Amino acid sequence: MKLSRTVKRALSVTMALLCLPLLGCANNDPEQEPSISLGVAIYNKDDTFISNMMLSLTEIAARYEQDTGIRVYVNLTDAQENQTNQNKQIDRFVAMNYDVLCVNLVDRTDASYTIDRAMDADIPVVFFNREPVQEDLQKWDRVYYIGTDPAENGRLEGQIVVDAYNADPARFDKNGDGIVQYIIIEGEIRHQDAMIRTEVSVQTLKDAGIELEKLDGGIASWVRSQAAALSDQYFEKYGDQIELIICNNDDMALGVVDTVERRGLSFNNIVGIDGTPAGLAAVKEGKMLGTVVIDYAAQAKLIFDIACALAMDKDPKEIADISADRTVRAPMYVVKADFIP
Ligand code: BGC
Repeated sequence: MKLSRTVKRALSVTMALLCLPLLGCANNDPEQEPSISLGVAIYNKDDTFISNMMLSLTEIAARYEQDTGIRVYVNLTDAQENQTNQNKQIDRFVAMNYDVLCVNLVDRTDASYTIDRAMDADIPVVFFNREPVQEDLQKWDRVYYIGTDPAENGRLEGQIVVDAYNADPARFDKNGDGIVQYIIIEGEIRHQDAMIRTEVSVQTLKDAGIELEKLDGGIASWVRSQAAALSDQYFEKYGDQIELIICNNDDMALGVVDTVERRGLSFNNIVGIDGTPAGLAAVKEGKMLGTVVIDYAAQAKLIFDIACALAMDKDPKEIADISADRTVRAPMYVVKADFIP
């Protein structure tokens, strides 16, 4: 709660993501106390999951302010996928003496810049979504990480397919060869969620006794349009041989749905992860088998609650289940299409 007057003048109270271009503008009553200031740095505002999470965060901050009378300043910056940009944004937050830094790293292996600056200024850091390596997390006991458990994401995603397969194997094995020919579409190569989800989802199918053959696979970096383009190439090349498409997130699954619709196909053996509003709608409409909801609103609440505790010099362990390495895993659940038991 050590907000400088400069910061107070510089920030609007609760910044909706839509206001990103207006960062650093307007404030109402600079003298009102007490207050909490959060410097929130995200890797890319065009990422659907992250932008939904940030909208939740600003809503939670606004509600908290209303309920408690404690002013909350959220300054949200977008690194546009460039770690050097993000490092400069961190420098600015530190110079303005924010209470807490909330950081969605561009490069999860490059957390040390942020941690070193934060340590020098004694500003705690809550990383989220892009997990720093253990060596970085262990550098300072005021560093936290909030994210999902990618192995459990992958296991639940695989289980959606297992349930659908057990209910109706013919839905997958269209050529009757006893093997499911599949394609996998992955997120960014260096993201822990992509690597682990891929491995565990496929392993879950194998463990359930489903015979698999990988036809192809590629990286679409979490992006809907990239997955649409990639899956278009796969349908061109493999046509009816494709019996299942596993995607590391909903936006990429929706990209596949776009291609299916554009090509006039009836294919819906597509699974995703996230539970974005568009992903959930596609599952409801039977365009996807299902999704794992990794609950961006719950993650936003954890980020906010832990950041507030740190800002007020409280122990975050009082409000969240924090493991010994100071990581917190947000809850998740499965949503399946109606036709899957
Ligand atoms: C989400 C993706 C998102 C990525 C961003 C993942 O956990 O599932 O949708 O694009 O995080 O880092």
